[in-house]
Amino acid sequence: MDQIVLTGFMGAGKSTVGKILADNLALPFIDIDSEIQREQGMLITDIFAQLGESKFRELEHQTLLQALQKNAVIATGGGIILSETNQSALKNANHVIYLKTNPQTFLTRLSGDTSRPLIQEKSPQEIQAIFDSRTHLYENTAHLIVETDNLTPDQIVDKIKNHFQLGKGQS
Ligand code: S3P
Repeated sequence: MDQIVLTGFMGAGKSTVGKILADNLALPFIDIDSEIQREQGMLITDIFAQLGESKFRELEHQTLLQALQKNAVIATGGGIILSETNQSALKNANHVIYLKTNPQTFLTRLSGDTSRPLIQEKSPQEIQAIFDSRTHLYENTAHLIVETDNLTPDQIVDKIKNHFQLGKGQS
């Protein structure tokens, strides 16, 4: 199976990089958050507000399992690594890539964001504390860690392709 799963904190660029990578490799692109929103007919913020975070996590888990049935590039939500069942599922995927960003980068990108319920009304210190509590999980579940701060999305895609020798032999 050709499963390329992108993980990382909110604002890491998983969706942007994932789309380019999928185009490059002629694989379908699956964005877990978009899939959940489409299937529920609700925005993530409304799912959190009306159904609660634990329901969102359940939907996220089911959507991950479905996505892992396919050959695809999969962009996950930043909290995918929180549950042990997701961590085990990721161990079975063949390419898990952690897009690692410095707090400075994601805090700038997330400033003014209204689409991510976990960071609303949070100070930069509180957002960084969420990141700090997760870094070991991102690192432990990844086959490759790409430090993205000084790279363009195209350069990140090249690094991933070169590391795993992906797309070789394709025209
Ligand atoms: C979350 C990250 C979000 C989304 C939800 C929860 C998290 O995805 O799944 O708001 O717990 O880090 P992005 O990482 O794509 O922003």
